[in-house]
Amino acid sequence: MKIAIIGTGYVGLPTGVGLAELGNQVVCVDKIAAKIEALTQGKVTLYEEGLEELYLKHLKSGALRFTLDMREAVDGADVVMIAVGTPPHPVTKEADLQYIYAAAEELAAYLDGYTVVATKSTVPVGTGDEIEAIIKKVNPAADVDVISLPEFLREGFAVHDFFHPDRIVIGTDSQRAREVMRRLYAPFADKTEMLEVSRRSSETIKYASNAFLAMKIHYINEMADFCEKAGADINEVAKGMGTDSRIGRKFLNPGPGYGGSCFPKDTNAMAQMGRKFGAMLNLIETTIAKNDERKLEMAKRVAAAVKHNPEAKIAVWGLAFKGGTDDCRESPAMQILEKLLHYNRNVTVYDPQAMENARAVLGDRVSYAADPYEACAGADIAVILTEWENFKHLDLEKLKAKMLQMQIMDLRNLLNKEEVCRQGFCYSCIGMKN
Ligand SMILES: NC(=O)c1ccc[n+]([C@@H]2O[C@H](COP(=O)([O-])OP(=O)(O)OC[C@H]3O[C@@H](n4cnc5c(N)ncnc54)[C@H](O)[C@@H]3O)[C@@H](O)[C@H]2O)c1
Repeated sequence: MKIAIIGTGYVGLPTGVGLAELGNQVVCVDKIAAKIEALTQGKVTLYEEGLEELYLKHLKSGALRFTLDMREAVDGADVVMIAVGTPPHPVTKEADLQYIYAAAEELAAYLDGYTVVATKSTVPVGTGDEIEAIIKKVNPAADVDVISLPEFLREGFAVHDFFHPDRIVIGTDSQRAREVMRRLYAPFADKTEMLEVSRRSSETIKYASNAFLAMKIHYINEMADFCEKAGADINEVAKGMGTDSRIGRKFLNPGPGYGGSCFPKDTNAMAQMGRKFGAMLNLIETTIAKNDERKLEMAKRVAAAVKHNPEAKIAVWGLAFKGGTDDCRESPAMQILEKLLHYNRNVTVYDPQAMENARAVLGDRVSYAADPYEACAGADIAVILTEWENFKHLDLEKLKAKMLQMQIMDLRNLLNKEEVCRQGFCYSCIGMKN
């Protein structure tokens, strides 16, 4: 099939690469010239494990192309996927749909023959109706079905998740569109649940899922606070809870609060929708407020650990909103860091992948280190803010030699407490008496 993908970000690019690997002809369009230039020249524009190899393979084979020209992408496409951003509106926190509507308007003129326009972006309930109306207005003769095709990939596992989705949700009542999507996703038919639902149900499934996961994170963080006061150990509690198959182990890792480009904006958008439709979503409202508070609390915790010394050097490990990605958008690490800078703290940072993205925001307000050990040179405390796997395997002897004070604050509960304490570090983490 010929597929057009609008937007080459964290969703559009892995999706385009994955669809090319399945044997389709894919043209990705973006409006950022520098991105398209890089992608055309063989330079991958974001970090995801396994992405670069597949991208280069299909760029070379010609199955994957990049363009700034909407006509070139959409003309003759069987499926057009919209994967542009839906950031939160700065004031109302509703999903800002300007990029979605602009893309719909731009693509409409070039539709040629029967086409399925599939919204991969996360959009509020009813947006499919708006997209359809825009397309029909620009191009009344268009033979088109607008469907909802929500994306569930996890950043850091985007390629893996493309090939191993838990489910594919196809939101449309059109049999014709369902047939096209069944053909496109035929390679997954035997191993993945395909849910054919109405467009509005499909739009709701995406928000309801993300809000539930955000609540699960908030829940375990609240339990961690409880454990600290009650003398229990959150790691043991989470394990005990997670072995119950009705609860599940995933998303039970205590931390500094959820972040990223999806959970904060999607919980806010869902809460807004609840208000709009007159169905208050109280659990989600509470989760949002408490998660925001938590990040401030964590920054205070770090500052308090070195309060005796205003000049103390703080080494921060981890800037990305989670391990496995270079994405710093709404990262708890960055928000905690901003608060520390607000307290005039002296900070050196290190992240395996997110340095460039973080530098664009932090500029020269912090120092940058080439590795975790360098970050700790002369440091009074090392603070772990992102759950990168390699932070678990650091050479503690080497670290000891670098630090001024042997103090580690582990806000991701990554390290082995006994081992770190045995090495003589003063160690604190989340959800247990320190
Ligand atoms: N990032 C994730 O993990 C994830 C997961 C599931 C769903 N989503 C949803 O998918 C959508 C996209 O997210 P993302 O993280 O990929 O965003 P992103 O910001 O990384 O990428 C969006 C891209 O779209 C491009 N774009 C915007 N308007 C355009 C237009 N008119 N024509 C061509 N290109 C245009 C932008 O230049 C940008 O490159 C959002 O709605 C998001 O909520 C994201």
